[in-house]
Amino acid sequence: MARSRRAVWISSLTRKLLTFVIAISCIAEERDIYIVLMEGEPVVFHHQKNSGTMPTEKGEGSDPNSEASKSHAKHLIDSHDQLLQTALDAGSYTKLYSFKNIVNGFAVHTSPSQVERIKKAPGVKIVERDRRAKLMTTYTPQFLGLPAVWTQEGGDRNAGEGTVIGFVDSGIDPLHPSFAGDPTNPYISELPRFSGTCESGPLFPETSCNGKIVSARFFSAGAQAATALNASMDFLSPFDAAGHGSHVASIAAGNFGVPVVVDGFYYGKASGMAPRARIAVYKAIYPSVGVLTDVLAAIDQAVLDGVHILTLSIGPDQPPEDAITFLGTFEIFMLAANKAGILVIQAVGNGGPGPYTVVSYSPWTVGVAASDTDRSYPGTLILGNGQKIGGVGLSGPSSGQGLLQHRLILAKDAVIRNGNFPRISQYIEECQYPEALDPAVVLGSVVICTFSDGFYNGTSNLTAIINTAKVLGFVGFVLVANPRYGDFIAEPIPFSVPGIMIPRTSDALLISQYYEEQTSRDKRGLVISYSGRAAIGEGRTAACMGRAPTVSRFSARGPDYIDQRKNPTDVLKPDILAPGHQIWAAWSPLSASDPMLAGQNFALISGTSMATPHISGIAALIKQNNPKWTPSMIASAMSTTATKYDNQGDQIMAHGFEIDSLYTAAPFGFGAGHVNPSRAMDPGLVFSAGYEDYISFLCSLPNLDPASIRTATGGPCTSSFGSPADLNLASVTITALSGSRTVHRRVTNVASKPETYVCGVLPPVGVMIDIHPPWFRVAPQGIQDLEIRLNVTQALDDFSFGEIVLTGSLDHIARIPLSVLPVSLS
Ligand SMILES: *[C@@H]1O[C@H](CO)[C@@H](O)[C@H](O)[C@H]1NC(C)=O
Ligand SMILES: *[C@@H]1O[C@H](CO)[C@@H](O)[C@H](O)[C@H]1NC(C)=O
Ligand SMILES: *[C@@H]1O[C@H](CO)[C@@H](O)[C@H](O)[C@H]1NC(C)=O
Ligand SMILES: *[C@@H]1O[C@H](CO)[C@@H](O)[C@H](O)[C@H]1NC(C)=O
Repeated sequence: MARSRRAVWISSLTRKLLTFVIAISCIAEERDIYIVLMEGEPVVFHHQKNSGTMPTEKGEGSDPNSEASKSHAKHLIDSHDQLLQTALDAGSYTKLYSFKNIVNGFAVHTSPSQVERIKKAPGVKIVERDRRAKLMTTYTPQFLGLPAVWTQEGGDRNAGEGTVIGFVDSGIDPLHPSFAGDPTNPYISELPRFSGTCESGPLFPETSCNGKIVSARFFSAGAQAATALNASMDFLSPFDAAGHGSHVASIAAGNFGVPVVVDGFYYGKASGMAPRARIAVYKAIYPSVGVLTDVLAAIDQAVLDGVHILTLSIGPDQPPEDAITFLGTFEIFMLAANKAGILVIQAVGNGGPGPYTVVSYSPWTVGVAASDTDRSYPGTLILGNGQKIGGVGLSGPSSGQGLLQHRLILAKDAVIRNGNFPRISQYIEECQYPEALDPAVVLGSVVICTFSDGFYNGTSNLTAIINTAKVLGFVGFVLVANPRYGDFIAEPIPFSVPGIMIPRTSDALLISQYYEEQTSRDKRGLVISYSGRAAIGEGRTAACMGRAPTVSRFSARGPDYIDQRKNPTDVLKPDILAPGHQIWAAWSPLSASDPMLAGQNFALISGTSMATPHISGIAALIKQNNPKWTPSMIASAMSTTATKYDNQGDQIMAHGFEIDSLYTAAPFGFGAGHVNPSRAMDPGLVFSAGYEDYISFLCSLPNLDPASIRTATGGPCTSSFGSPADLNLASVTITALSGSRTVHRRVTNVASKPETYVCGVLPPVGVMIDIHPPWFRVAPQGIQDLEIRLNVTQALDDFSFGEIVLTGSLDHIARIPLSVLPVSLS
């Protein structure tokens, strides 16, 4: 939207200029944001080249606050400025950022012709056009009207103490009770390695950093270059006008036991996963626009500040244009963060349920999928004949007494007969415009509004129905599915008037049948009398029932892929599953991107954005117990202990394209399974990998030129694995297995006692597997190498799945999912 608005502005400017100065019409060449990576070590890794041992913690090796580091940073910034001055025409560009901490490079706003010159400048490694970045939430109003997509492919006081979780998101609402300091339990311990700051600005005074929020920054140069920001919502401060950033931060690290009250109704209490963890805020997404460049600048700073865990409930709109997925600039920044010892937790995206929809690609991040929990908010519509129809809507009952029944009227029958307005469905059926309905008829009635074109193509919304209901004094509204469009997806949203959504066409037909039986019409079809009655029941009370967890419909699915052509690759994505459907958490009452939720302090929303901070919080708890663990060790601990079973003891199911369709889920839906926090604290064994292993992994990918890996990462291909599947992940993924292959793994005993493990295998269909050794004993801190030998017994045309289970004598169990595509017997 922002782009097209700008394009219009530029073309009108062009026209004016053409009239006067034809010679400089080239000024109309549209500028864009470009990310440029340069040769030369960034600050955090400076003086560490060739050392072989990469830092596992920020601060080991070079101190970024030392004079030497500061002077190196200045040297890098000067080199960026010099390059731009030398290579480009004066006035043809604006430098937005110098990246200097974990990656050496810069972002520049300029025209394509100038960029060609940058590409040729000495020391330039990579130039990538900015992609937009977005929040990984399925906003509730967008949830309505999804049928179009169906047809497409498809110890609370201490927990987390001492850890800092960084959030690159839309900012934070510092006044929210989820982030308030607790006078009875003040933060006193020092954070020796953390060096944040508190940037102030609109709605974000310096006092906002209160001990719970330890640091808050905002990054806006990219957003400001991309569009004209709106000062009444795109605040140039860490303040969260959207709500998303506050939601995400409170899921990971919000205070314990904060009452959730919306419109005066008490829904229960909310707590973060690690309620004592500190929060470091990096605002990079604005209600008007989100730009990848700002996200990269935020990551560059977060690593320097020394966060332990980085939460990215955001991501690029699409895979990189030219690069392979692993070598896009976003992936390179995340690799550098991992190299500096920071665990990066990332949303896999909301493009499910079709295959190849993940937007988390790299083995150096944890990609989180979303699950539905067993909590739902069943609503009811009670018809005059006593029939009860199930629906959705967080609203109170249509009358305090519950039994009082109100006149039931179809909006189409309440139309003003000689009114002067467009006679289209949005106006009438969808109750979008009060002027279309006869006030005398609908006052005090339950009015049926029908899902139609406007919802289908996104021009109608619930806010307008609620507004119509208020203006005309409906007792309540019913939004029913329409057989012409099929069932729709309804998410519970708090309605400020009684209302209910009936998402199934079969239920809508029952209502329609009853209504027609009770309504008499004249020859022209006009209503003579209404005698249908209805009431809306309490819709705000949660019910906990049914099978759970299940993989949410929207949650993006693997396999992981290496390029825009979606060639699969030997890495499992998603990595893990966590709750992400209908999650209550903190909200910013401004709710600038979602007027439906304006005024609320809490919101119930869905997305892999909501699943991601569950994993960040749990990772913080693991980090608290094991401060020396590397990112891959923490990731492994969560993966090997995850469960693939649901509350009924069966394999977790996944939602498919059709409403309410469930099928048995596979690792491409849930990764290793649903996170199991208590077992993750004590995994027994871990699979660990570091920066050099990731470089070896890249170097062993087929058809990938070592020079391009060196260019992107700086790492030379001095060693490579027999195959990319040899990267020491807590999963094995082979996209094309021919004949036989041996895959290598290495486990480390992180428990305090020696333990004997037996290796069991549940082989995928079409593959025979044996593990050598079949059992082993491993001392504390000891390592054990495993050979996983696979033979194809039957060629298939799709992946099949299995697992390896390492069962310890002291009750530790490590599960490793296997995803194999056996292509030929030899
Ligand atoms: C700026 O945001 C405010 C508040 O959301 C809105 O009312 C106004 O229309 C916006 N202005 C522009 C120019 O988009
Ligand atoms: C939405 O539906 C209405 C009514 O059929 C139609 O007039 C309008 O063009 C549609 N809009 C889009 C974007 O398809
Ligand atoms: C909802 O629809 C009304 C009427 O078409 C429109 O004025 C309003 O801007 C829409 N609101 C949102 C949030 O899309
Ligand atoms: C796999 O095949 C190899 C050679 O073809 C054979 O030596 C080995 O025993 C087989 N392994 C399994 C598990 O069948």
